[in-house]
Amino acid sequence: MAEKIVVLGSNGQIGTELVTALRKVYGESNVVACDIRRPDYDIKNSGPFEFVNVLEKDTLKSIFQRYKPTQVYLLAALLSATGEQNPKLAWDLNMNGLLNILDLAITYQTAKVYWPSSIAVFGPNSPKDNTPQFCVMDPNTVYGISKLAGERWCEYYHQKYNLDVRSIRYPGLISWKAAPGGGTTDYAIHIFHDALKKGTYASFLNAATELPMMYMDDAIRGTIELMDADASKITIRSSYNFAGVSFTPEILAAEIRKHIPEFTLTYAENDPRQNIADSWPRSIDDSYAVKEWGWKPEFNLERLAIEMINNLKK
Ligand code: SER
Repeated sequence: MAEKIVVLGSNGQIGTELVTALRKVYGESNVVACDIRRPDYDIKNSGPFEFVNVLEKDTLKSIFQRYKPTQVYLLAALLSATGEQNPKLAWDLNMNGLLNILDLAITYQTAKVYWPSSIAVFGPNSPKDNTPQFCVMDPNTVYGISKLAGERWCEYYHQKYNLDVRSIRYPGLISWKAAPGGGTTDYAIHIFHDALKKGTYASFLNAATELPMMYMDDAIRGTIELMDADASKITIRSSYNFAGVSFTPEILAAEIRKHIPEFTLTYAENDPRQNIADSWPRSIDDSYAVKEWGWKPEFNLERLAIEMINNLKK
C-alpha cells in the first residue's frame, strides 16, 4: 500500500529534518508537513504544507479526512525550559495534542502513529548512570510529567484499541539546520554557534553536568528504523530508551578546541535549567532498542563536533 504521511509540528528542530528524510523515502507529495507557522525553507517548496494547530480538533479532523494518512508523526510540543515558563499551556499542548491524534488515528484507521518522548521522563530518584528502561520515574518538570503521562496513554491505546503507536525517549538532539526549541540541552547547540561567531560561550549548565545527547542524523535514522520495524519485534509501546553519546559542557568545549583552539567557555550562574539537568540521567541503557529493532548510533562526539562545525561554517 502506498504510504501517506502526516507530520504535525513540521517546522521544529526535528520536523524540519524528518520531513526531508521521509520525503526522500516516500516521495515529496506523500509527506504532508503541518505546523502553526509557515516554514521558512525547504518544506514548503518541496511538498504539501497545511496550517494545523493540534489543539483544533476540526482542522485536525479535516486533515485526516482529506489525506487518510497511513502514518502520523506528532512532534508539536513545548519543551522542558519553555514549558516551565507556561506549565498549563505545556500540559494542554503536550497532552491534549496527543489525545486528539490518538483518537483520530483510531477513527480513521491510521496504520502507525509516532510520538516522541524524552529523557525528561526520568527524575531525581531515577538511576543516573545507564538509566534502565524500567525504573523509578519521578519527573519534576511539566514537560517530563506530560511525556510520562503521554507514554502511559500510548501504551493504553495500544493495549485497549490495538493502535500501532511507537515512541522513542530522545536525548538532547544536536543539529544545525533548524534552531532548537527551548530545551535544557540546547546549550550543546548554542555553544557551536557562539564558538564560531564569538570564540566564546557562556554555558547555562555547569562544567560537570553530563547529559545524554545525540546527533540529529542518528535520531532521524533511528526514528524511521523504529517505524519500519516489523510490529512483532516491538514489545515496548510506552517509549524506548535511546542512546547516542553522553558529555559535559567541559568535555564538549575540549572537543571544540580541537578545531577552534582559542575557544573559551564561561559559566552563567543560577540558571533554572541547571536544576532540570540535575534531575535527568547522565547516560541511558538502550538495550531494548538494540535488541528488538537493531538500534546502533553512528555519531560519536568527535564526528558530531566535526559535522556541526563544518556545516555551521557554511
Ligand atoms: N532536549 C529536550 C529538552 O531539553 C529533552 O527532551 O527539553
